[in-house]
Amino acid sequence: MAVALVPPRHVAIVMDGNGRWAQRRFLPRLAGHKQGVESLRRCVQACAQRGIGVLTVFAFSSENWNRPQDEVSGLMELLAKALTREVPQLCKDGVRLHFVGERTGLSDKVREGLAQAERETAHNSRLVLNVCFNYGGRWDIAQAAAQLAARGEAITEASLDRAMALSHVPDPDLLIRTGGEMRLSNFLLWQAAYSELVFSDRLWPEFDEAALDEAIAAFHARERRFGKTSEQVKA
Ligand code: IPE
Ligand code: IPE
Ligand code: MG
Repeated sequence: MAVALVPPRHVAIVMDGNGRWAQRRFLPRLAGHKQGVESLRRCVQACAQRGIGVLTVFAFSSENWNRPQDEVSGLMELLAKALTREVPQLCKDGVRLHFVGERTGLSDKVREGLAQAERETAHNSRLVLNVCFNYGGRWDIAQAAAQLAARGEAITEASLDRAMALSHVPDPDLLIRTGGEMRLSNFLLWQAAYSELVFSDRLWPEFDEAALDEAIAAFHARERRFGKTSEQVKA
C-alpha cells in the first residue's frame, strides 16, 4: 500500500539566478527580476496546492545594496508594483504575506506598501508567505539580541528564538537554493540549523512545479536524525 508522504511544513527558497537568466537572453538584469516575480507567483500557487503551510523566500539581502544603483532602484520599483498587482490574487489563493527584514532604510513608499499588503492579507490562512527583503541572518540574530538586552531579558536559545523575525513560523524543513550556488549568503543562519538543503541548477525564473517536486522528493529521501543515530530514528 502506498503511504501518502507528509509535505514539508515550511519550505524556504533562495531565489537566485535572475541576472544570469536575463544575461543569457541578452536582456537587462532587471528583465530577469521581472521574470522572477512570475516564477514566485507560480511557486506560491504550487506550494498551496501541495499543502505546504509556510513558504519563505529571499528577495533582497542586506548585501544586495552593494549592487549597481540602477539595479537596486529597479528592484525597489518592482517590489512596489508587484505588491499592488499581486495582492488580490494572493487573497483568492488564501495567502498571508509577511515581510521579514529591516524596514528602516527602505523608502516611505515601499514601507507603506509592505504594511498595506500585510494588512490586506492578514485574514488569509491557507499559506503563510514570508518575503525576506532587506534581510540578513546576521541582522536578525543581532536585532533579536538587542531587543532582549533593551528589555533586560536573559539571552537563551528560547528567548532569542522568540525575538527573531521569523518567530511566527516553525523552522524550515526544506531549504532550496536555485541558480547552482551552494551557499547560504546570509539567509536564515539561525533557523536553518536542521533544514534539509537542496541545491538546484535551475535559474530561479525557470524553477517550475516539476523542479519543486524534485526538491520535495529529495527531501523525502533524507533521513532527519537531529543528532540521534539512524537506529533511534527508525525505532
Ligand atoms: C537573485 O538573482 C535575486 C536577487 C539577488 C535580488 P540574482 O540577481 O542574484 O541573479 P544572478 O545570481 O546574478 O544570476
Ligand atoms: C542571495 O543571492 C540573495 C537573494 C537571492 C535575494 P545573491 O546573488 O545576492 O548571493 P551571492 O552574492 O551570490 O552570494
Ligand atoms: Mg545571485
